[in-house]
Amino acid sequence: MKLKTTLCDVLGIQYPIIQAGMGWDKQGSTTPAALVAAVSNAGGLGVVGGSPMQPDLIRERIKQTRDLTDRPFGVDITLPRLSEVPSDVPPSDTRMVRRFIEDAHPEHMGFVRKMVQDLGLELQEPDARSWIKTPELVRRQLDVILEERVQVLAIGLGDTREVVPLAHAQGMKVLALAGNVRHAVRHARNGVDVIVAQGYEAGGHTGNIANFALIPQVVDAVRPTPVVAAGGIADGRGLAAALSLGAVGVWCGTVFLISQESAIHSDYRNQIVTGSTEDFILGRYCSGKPSRHFRSAYIQAWEKSGLRALDMPYQGVLTDEVRLAAEAANRVGVMSVPGGQIAGLLGEKHVRPAREILESMMSEAAQILKDMAGRYVL
Ligand SMILES: Cc1cc2nc3c(=O)[nH]c(=O)nc-3n(C[C@H](O)[C@H](O)[C@H](O)COP(=O)(O)O)c2cc1C
Repeated sequence: MKLKTTLCDVLGIQYPIIQAGMGWDKQGSTTPAALVAAVSNAGGLGVVGGSPMQPDLIRERIKQTRDLTDRPFGVDITLPRLSEVPSDVPPSDTRMVRRFIEDAHPEHMGFVRKMVQDLGLELQEPDARSWIKTPELVRRQLDVILEERVQVLAIGLGDTREVVPLAHAQGMKVLALAGNVRHAVRHARNGVDVIVAQGYEAGGHTGNIANFALIPQVVDAVRPTPVVAAGGIADGRGLAAALSLGAVGVWCGTVFLISQESAIHSDYRNQIVTGSTEDFILGRYCSGKPSRHFRSAYIQAWEKSGLRALDMPYQGVLTDEVRLAAEAANRVGVMSVPGGQIAGLLGEKHVRPAREILESMMSEAAQILKDMAGRYVL
């Protein structure tokens, strides 16, 4: 049984299932080329989570993905407001920013350094992966994606007004995430091709409106622009529900994060496979903006401190200090990758090839929709 929606025509794909662009570490372990290509090869749309990647790595990742598939795929980046970041910060040198935080927020820096000690870890120097996003670097990320003419540009955060005409001029489609009606309407007015309505349940940066309330409102507000649902969707029941709410497809993160092709550390995979929904909480301690993560030792320590998180990108620099120390000791489990509330549904048996995730989601949704017509329509 197959399921086809207008999303398939808009994006040139077979099934209305998109693997979310997930950025976490600077090597892109959350969306390796193998995962992106596997999803696209299986008939969905794979998306590279390019947000934390240096522009050169984005280019390399696009090439690697092209070696593995000739189907459409996308790259996701975020366009955060970066007006506060001094534009003369050399991207590879977080030392300057560390010094700024030491001067402007000594309590926060002192707390993080003490946390490193309390966890039995050792402070490390910034490595090549510790870089600060400046407006110039975001622009270079975008330029790479435009030059490479990837089929789909996904914008996770930020104003789409300037990027839509640039992408359309290259023959690319633009997807944009929205956590409320206001942002969705703004994206639609900017000419975005597909709006991804992302609910409170989602892993990563997210808003505070749950999908049952959000999706029908966004669908009504941006019609005829197609809407895709994101957050809390990991099987055919979620896909069928999203279609019932008026969406034309789904954008799924957490379920693909534990696919066999994902390259996240086994400690992170275990957090998702064994964690309950209540373990995945929304907070600002990882990046400075609300994002949903496993409640790791890192987050628990911040909660106890009573300190408020710094703004983006400074909080991320503090997170990086502990990440470096945890990696050096091979104890990454004190940290966490983002993950959604649906983690509570996912167990060891859900660690499968991406193709299997996609195909089971598809056939289960098609069966549900068929059965429901027989069961409830009189
Ligand atoms: C590990 C991880 C990293 C994420 N990073 C990004 C990102 O860089 N850009 C973005 O637009 N969304 C990001 N998200 C949000 C996803 O795109 C997506 O909206 C979310 O995963 C959907 O909810 P689900 O996890 O319940 O499927 C991330 C999500 C996860 C789980």
